[in-house]
Amino acid sequence: MPQLNSAIISTGSYLPKQYVTNDDLAQKIETSDEWIRTRTGIEGRHYGDETETTTFMATKAAERALEQANLTAEDIDMIVVATVTPDYTFPSVACLMQKQMGLTNASVAFDVQAACSGFVYGLNLIDAQIKTGQIKRAILVGVEKFSSILNWEDRSTCVLFGDGAGAVVIEATDNPNRGVIASKLHANGNLADLLHGTGGIAATQTAGHVSMQGREVFRHAVREMVGVVSPLLEKNNLKTDDIDWLIPHQANMRIIEAVTKQLDFPMEKTIQTVATHANTSAASIPLALDDANRKGTFKQGDLLALSAFGAGFTWAGALLRW
Ligand code: ACO
Repeated sequence: MPQLNSAIISTGSYLPKQYVTNDDLAQKIETSDEWIRTRTGIEGRHYGDETETTTFMATKAAERALEQANLTAEDIDMIVVATVTPDYTFPSVACLMQKQMGLTNASVAFDVQAACSGFVYGLNLIDAQIKTGQIKRAILVGVEKFSSILNWEDRSTCVLFGDGAGAVVIEATDNPNRGVIASKLHANGNLADLLHGTGGIAATQTAGHVSMQGREVFRHAVREMVGVVSPLLEKNNLKTDDIDWLIPHQANMRIIEAVTKQLDFPMEKTIQTVATHANTSAASIPLALDDANRKGTFKQGDLLALSAFGAGFTWAGALLRW
């Protein structure tokens, strides 16, 4: 039996219609385009309206990924959705998507809650299912509607986030030169208080708001997003120079710059979408992947490194051949 690899064969995304610039925000809260832009690199973000629910955005992104792969709903046997902003406590967004899209052959559907690391967590889980021969083809979505949990009284945090969804189709292949080479997941719940939601269904019966100690989060984000890449490279006899494209979690431009500097990796080979998407948490990496893919950035065989960090704290990395 040849070794099975998990290849991303297509991408899709959905960004809500409403685009809100920093100047728009300055009409509502005491802030400025200059403050936001210089500290974060963010110029604007998308916010979903009441029709653009988490499930709606996830479904649109997944439909676009299916269409790009020339596949139909019946071809999918697993659905994983990474999100911390599901429409309902239950059922999962994955199950609601299954119903919406008629993914009748999917025998597994669930949500992953690992905040901004959720997409890479999902990739790791799907890779394991494929490598053990349990499934052949999966849809993985990262989706968030952070506009519904922003605290407009906290100007240092509310300006950072946006809404959107990114999706990929992942397929089993026996081509040794394609797909996930390695991935690694991490968590440290001792630091949960530094970035957390202030509510929860069992604790307060409300969703609460995002609360963050920005400087502390910044420090940990840079350290872990750098630290997760090097061991993956070493274990696979690869060097930083071998990476064709780095796709970091798109939290903030200064974090991305610090990560690339510490890795001694060129910014020109780092995918950047934070300026117009802002921080879309679990959606940020698949949105960046789709943006680059549709621009024709990746060539077959390119080595991609994904690096994510989020609340929990959670962090995760992956190396894959396009
Ligand atoms: N507009 C104008 N002024 C502001 C704003 C704003 N939106 N927000 C804060 N300020 C002011 C503060 O009131 C403070 O003023 P003061 O000195 O008069 O008291 C001053 O700016 C500095 O505030 P700080 O909060 O200390 O600002 P800092 O320089 O630390 O930058 C920032 C804040 C941009 C949030 C930074 O800490 C950061 O980038 N942190 C990382 C956050 C992040 O991206 N987290 C996500 C990563 S993980 C994930 O995605 C889940």
